[in-house]
Amino acid sequence: MGYRVAVVGATGAVGGEMLRILHETGFPADEVFAVASERSAGKEVSYGDDVTLRVRSLPDFDFEGIDLALFSAGASVSGEYAPKAAACGCIVIDNSSRWRMEPDVPLVVPEINPEALEGVRARNIVANPNCSTIQMVMALKPLHDLARITRVVVATYQSVSGAGHRAMEELFEQTRAKFLQEEREPRVFPRPIAFNLIPHIDRFLDDDFTKEEWKMRVETRKILDLEIEVVATCVRVPVFVGHSEAVFVEFAEPVEVEDARGALRAFPGVTVIDRPDRGEYATPVDCVGEYEVFVSRIRRDPTVPSGLALWVVADNLRKGAALNAVQIAHKLVEMGLV
Ligand code: A2P
Repeated sequence: MGYRVAVVGATGAVGGEMLRILHETGFPADEVFAVASERSAGKEVSYGDDVTLRVRSLPDFDFEGIDLALFSAGASVSGEYAPKAAACGCIVIDNSSRWRMEPDVPLVVPEINPEALEGVRARNIVANPNCSTIQMVMALKPLHDLARITRVVVATYQSVSGAGHRAMEELFEQTRAKFLQEEREPRVFPRPIAFNLIPHIDRFLDDDFTKEEWKMRVETRKILDLEIEVVATCVRVPVFVGHSEAVFVEFAEPVEVEDARGALRAFPGVTVIDRPDRGEYATPVDCVGEYEVFVSRIRRDPTVPSGLALWVVADNLRKGAALNAVQIAHKLVEMGLV
């Protein structure tokens, strides 16, 4: 038997990838519904090469009889509509930050903590972690299994697609305007993003960290281990797709670089590209459209008793968002939970 699946936010950067990846990975769907705001009702979006879906308006959409709904339309839309969909018996896989830290909502990276899905029926909601968290925990998990991680220091280099279609347009328009010597006021980002960097993603909190930085800390702990300390600086960079991270990891026990490399190579969903002698390492341009998380520049941190420095890159729209959500959908099917 196949499933009836809705994608909410289907006209967006992540929603489009959700439809593409549902099709690419052969998700057993009998029917797929594309849902977005009233503004988009009647537009068409692609599902695979041959099928187009007519977009439905979210306020008019009936979740009765829908088995799975993948949401990527922002936290306020998820806050209002995910419980309505869940009340109809549909399992919501939510890409927003709205439900991630609720204790009875599983926060899942399928390669790491699929067992958390067992509790999905408590709320009928599964949260997809933040894009920067997902790629970092994918690299941390095999290392944590090797020699317990105690502390992580991370600086991110996050592409504009993480902020949606309008953000991608803003980078394009500002870049073009620069060459034409025209002025373009920032609208999506708080500062100009073309030829610039912005150390400000999501809002500032009382302790002067941003909410994005807070998310990396609390989500990593919820997924991996509540004992791990995480401190982050999150930076938006003028890259269209692909997030990068410089990650410094401290361990309770000694770790050899070669053992770390082996553990990373053996972990599903991680590819090691690390040949400094040949100048081989991953960049965001290399990872666009890929499913894997790429780990490069693995080296010993000589400033602490046991530590490693890493460079971690992934397609933020894929493993960082849509792919992880679709993998959760497959896992729910595999575990007989849907
Ligand atoms: P729409 O295109 O109709 O505005 P992105 O992250 O690329 O900006 O995409 C956001 C997605 O969320 C789009 O599909 C957008 O639909 C959808 N969305 C935004 N606001 C709402 C809303 N109030 N109701 C339903 N969908 C929404």
